[in-house]
Amino acid sequence: MPYSVHTSRRRFLRHTGLGLFALAGTPAWVRAMTMPGPKLSPNKASPAFQPDAEIELTARCGAVPILPGRSTAVQQYAARLVKGPDNTLTNLPGSYLGPVMRLHKGQRVRIHFRNELSEPTIAHWHGLHVPALMDGHPMYALDPGETFVYEFEVRNRASFNIYHPHPHEITAKQVYHGLAGGLLVNDEEEAALELPSGEYEIPIVLQDRRFDGDNQLVYVRHMHERMMGFHGDRILVNGRPDFAVEVATRAYRLRIMNGSNARIYKLGWDDGTPVTVIGVDGGLLEEPETKPYVMLAPGERLDVWADFSGRNVGSQLVMRSLPFTGALPAMAQRMMGEMMHSGLPLGSDYPLFTVRVARKQSESPALPRRLAKLTRYTLADTANPDKPVPLAISEGPMSMLLNGRAYAHDDFQAFERIPLGSVQLLEIFHDHGGGGHGMGMQGGMGMGMMGHGGMGMMGGHGGGGMGMMMSMAHPIHLHGQSFQILSRTVSHMALDDYASVREGFVDAGWQDTVLTMPGERIRLIKPFQDFKGAFMYHCHNLEHEDMGMMREFSVE
Ligand code: C2O
Ligand code: CU
Ligand code: CU
Repeated sequence: MPYSVHTSRRRFLRHTGLGLFALAGTPAWVRAMTMPGPKLSPNKASPAFQPDAEIELTARCGAVPILPGRSTAVQQYAARLVKGPDNTLTNLPGSYLGPVMRLHKGQRVRIHFRNELSEPTIAHWHGLHVPALMDGHPMYALDPGETFVYEFEVRNRASFNIYHPHPHEITAKQVYHGLAGGLLVNDEEEAALELPSGEYEIPIVLQDRRFDGDNQLVYVRHMHERMMGFHGDRILVNGRPDFAVEVATRAYRLRIMNGSNARIYKLGWDDGTPVTVIGVDGGLLEEPETKPYVMLAPGERLDVWADFSGRNVGSQLVMRSLPFTGALPAMAQRMMGEMMHSGLPLGSDYPLFTVRVARKQSESPALPRRLAKLTRYTLADTANPDKPVPLAISEGPMSMLLNGRAYAHDDFQAFERIPLGSVQLLEIFHDHGGGGHGMGMQGGMGMGMMGHGGMGMMGGHGGGGMGMMMSMAHPIHLHGQSFQILSRTVSHMALDDYASVREGFVDAGWQDTVLTMPGERIRLIKPFQDFKGAFMYHCHNLEHEDMGMMREFSVE
């Protein structure tokens, strides 16, 4: 396997646990070893660009009261509106999260982003289709004190997006410590529907955290938490514990974001009321869908219509995460539970937030039957109907990879070069060492946590074996334009677990992130239009991303 010196140094650092220094801010000598290469100077404002909205955004350290007692040290975004509509920025009271940004399709936006942390960072607009230079690529990571000026036109349709850091190897840690915010895009098609707005439109950012006895955030303590992704034992909504919201007897629009590093939610109302979905990552569906529950992986968003008009004042409703299995290897899950005495194992049943019906209101808007016009792509629209671009997931004892290689900038494999303007068929699948890349990584020791006891039952099956046993769920995210999901197929070996999630996928809209369960194969259609350059694709389990489960497409 062709490892560069720089990659093996990085691996050395990780194996010796030096990677954990990131917790205390990366010392300069570690950075010098792990992030060599010429430093790119940050982008400056261009006089020719006339912004409709202009924002100053900073990443900085702070402290916020979250639990009773001492404040919690966090990293956070703060923003100031320099120019533009008054409702461009809305602070979430008492939250470490950045203000919700509200942009409009067609708007020209300039954002002065300043790094006031003591470590590198860069901001990425997850879900927005912007030029490569404006995408927050890790190669543009800012040193402390530097400013990057973003300038772009909003091309997206109405949707709920995310802004979050993207510096290689420390994204997860920074998001965990509070760097994230919601970014709404509005457009005319949406406005014409007169959906619930103002106080009737509620952002719900779901995150999980772990606190020590002194109310401080606890992050990754050992290898297993990195391999499985970090799971906290406490749910926060909009940065608040025990989140409850008071509503009137009418319809609301809940803009739900999974802002967790690794935790996957299976959203369902506690009284069995179906979940009415009107939109996903990339905006409104053609028509509402009702689901018994909905799966929401890290990086995904959901637009939910919640009608409380038939409810009694004084009643309450709880949004829960319902039980499911299979997202982690069974043995790993068991061991994690034991090792961490986790009060909140992945896939268990627990409350997320409470809705209290507090007042009567006679008027309520009706759920529109038609929401939006969508152009649906078919195989015939793709440049490569017989030869999908692979997005191969490989899971090894010490590494999580995409297409057989760890992240490196400018390290394109032939199929990672995509012609500008083309529409491509892509296929996500688990590569269990059945051939091609990744084989060398799938040695016999199974993360060092699986004994030989279970080995007998695994060998032999094509596409099964060791890989299947170590297989876990991965939310795969593609930068640039949104994509559509063409099909999902599941290997027979994974069907039992899959039964606990299969009704929870809303695949009829535009996505930028898709949850891939063990044994699952997903076909996507994605346009690569408008902008040339390097666009990342990666696992949005942020620990996986930082471990190198990230690659780039070169659109050329
Ligand atoms: Cu939300 Cu490349 O990330
Ligand atoms: Cu993104
Ligand atoms: Cu992953």
